[in-house]
Amino acid sequence: MHLYFQGEHTQQAHKGIPEGAYEEEQGLKGFFGPVSHLIKRKPSTRWSKIDGPLRPRMYDLVKPGIGGGTDKWQRLLYNSHLTISLLWMDVKAENMGKAYRNSDGDLLYFCHKGAGEVWTEYGLLKYRKSEYINVPKCLTHTLVPSEPSTFLVVENRSSHYEEPDRGLVGRHAIYDPATLGKPDLHEQDRRMKSLNAAVTEIVIKRGDEFTRFAYEENYYDTLGWKGDLFPFTLHTNNMMPLMSHRAHLPPSAHTTFVARDFVVCTFLPRPLEKDADALKVPFYHQNIDYDEVLFYHKGDFFSRDNLHAGMMSFHPMGFPHGPHPKAVKAVSQKTETNEIAVMIDSRWPLFADPFLDQTELQDYWKSWKA
Ligand SMILES: [Fe+2]
Repeated sequence: MHLYFQGEHTQQAHKGIPEGAYEEEQGLKGFFGPVSHLIKRKPSTRWSKIDGPLRPRMYDLVKPGIGGGTDKWQRLLYNSHLTISLLWMDVKAENMGKAYRNSDGDLLYFCHKGAGEVWTEYGLLKYRKSEYINVPKCLTHTLVPSEPSTFLVVENRSSHYEEPDRGLVGRHAIYDPATLGKPDLHEQDRRMKSLNAAVTEIVIKRGDEFTRFAYEENYYDTLGWKGDLFPFTLHTNNMMPLMSHRAHLPPSAHTTFVARDFVVCTFLPRPLEKDADALKVPFYHQNIDYDEVLFYHKGDFFSRDNLHAGMMSFHPMGFPHGPHPKAVKAVSQKTETNEIAVMIDSRWPLFADPFLDQTELQDYWKSWKA
């Protein structure tokens, strides 16, 4: 279709919105396809009643009594292309004796809490809070927390993680590949010897069923390696968010990893836009082709009210969403954001695990009311 317009409209998206009116973006292909910007008298999030299963959801994953205490994987949201889970791990000597291998897909761990090491056939990786650990499909690894750890884990079941296309801004924007944490084989040898540790059991997941392979001696006996397939870490401190000081950039500017059927984005602290007529909060929008999941990791979440770290929102495709009214009012006092959040945008509908029922904030759908 060609560009067409009528009535009140802006020349530049997210800028110069008429006083007292609201802009709503309706777009295909996750901010890359055909798109229109509607200027409305009131936000479309002013629904008074919702009758049926489709609604915005908010889950409190750190509510007392949820998780922790024992090593546990908990599925949260899923479809045939990805699974989003939480993993809680304690500091336990028995963690050092076994390894995990996932033949159902690549695993992307995001450390919400804790610190520790990952032992692999490629060497040792260190992790700490606010860090991604990317473990390609079928690569054997052992998580060895030095502090109780909580991870958000995104399993890529239909493709492999790739870096985002950085296009005009060049290969070193967003994060420089040189800052990725690489596995250290010698460090792992030293570490395992000093602990007298040996990994003799591998738990392998295939089709969500588990098989255990036993070994008589330490499985991690690699003498050396070369190649461009290996596990790595990426800390949010090493990420350089893109921004424009003049107009709000879409969430896609914050893409960290790309899969065939979803993307993982990271929202990081950044200054707000400086132009007086620039929208400073995320725009109201229908990201028509994507279910959106946002995990709130750290900081003050400027576009939402009454949020704390460890919450997760789920906005399925089918209705518009945007900032909360109090956030819109509060933003005029702010010059920067200090939030860290991980977003997973799924091309295909996600299903909620029944576990989430006990964590859901039932009145979240009303939270856009002024
Ligand atoms: Fe969104």
